[in-house]
Amino acid sequence: MQKVLNHYTASDWRADRVLITGDLIQDDSAAAYDQFREQLLPLNMRMHCVPGNHDVRDLMMPVCRRPPFSYCAKEEVRDWLLLGLDSCITGDAGGEISPDEFERLDAVISASPAKYILVYLHHPPVRMGSTWLDTVILKNGDELMERLQACSRVRLLVFGHAHQSYEDEHHGIQVIGTPSTCRQFKRGSEDFELDDQPPAYRRITLHADGSSENELIWVDE
Ligand SMILES: [Fe+2]
Repeated sequence: MQKVLNHYTASDWRADRVLITGDLIQDDSAAAYDQFREQLLPLNMRMHCVPGNHDVRDLMMPVCRRPPFSYCAKEEVRDWLLLGLDSCITGDAGGEISPDEFERLDAVISASPAKYILVYLHHPPVRMGSTWLDTVILKNGDELMERLQACSRVRLLVFGHAHQSYEDEHHGIQVIGTPSTCRQFKRGSEDFELDDQPPAYRRITLHADGSSENELIWVDE
């Protein structure tokens, strides 16, 4: 992650926001969240976080609810609504959008005057084409996609968890998965297997007409 931060800092490209799509830590410790916070603070901008299966909500919330961080937040930025969803099930590597979270999603979207919507969450709502990984994606991904597709303002969906790149359009919604800032998983593998690709991050630009573009940045040594 530090390599990714260094790459961003040394580049000419500047962001307004960071979307952090979960699995901030892996050792269930409060100290790890403190380290995460200290490492990210120099970016000096709003950082929107959602939990992943390796996160511990009770430890993550107090850290990520303190500005400039936020936790499963909604924010309207010019014509766009950015909305973070909690897709985690305690004790399960796979994910699910709970009935309460669906209710919040519907309420936030109906109340928002934003012309366009970007939704971000940890678990992929679509199959990744990897046997083992597809057993731990979003269990009710089809339902989430159907609900989002019913709202023509939803243009982008961003996820983590898969430790590999994904980009495809599903009925008008651009669905994007970004590789990890740490190790990557082997694409298409039957069983769990690591890849030797470097850490990565993605630069997403949201335009005023509802279109967007993005660039995947691999951070080599
Ligand atoms: Fe994960």
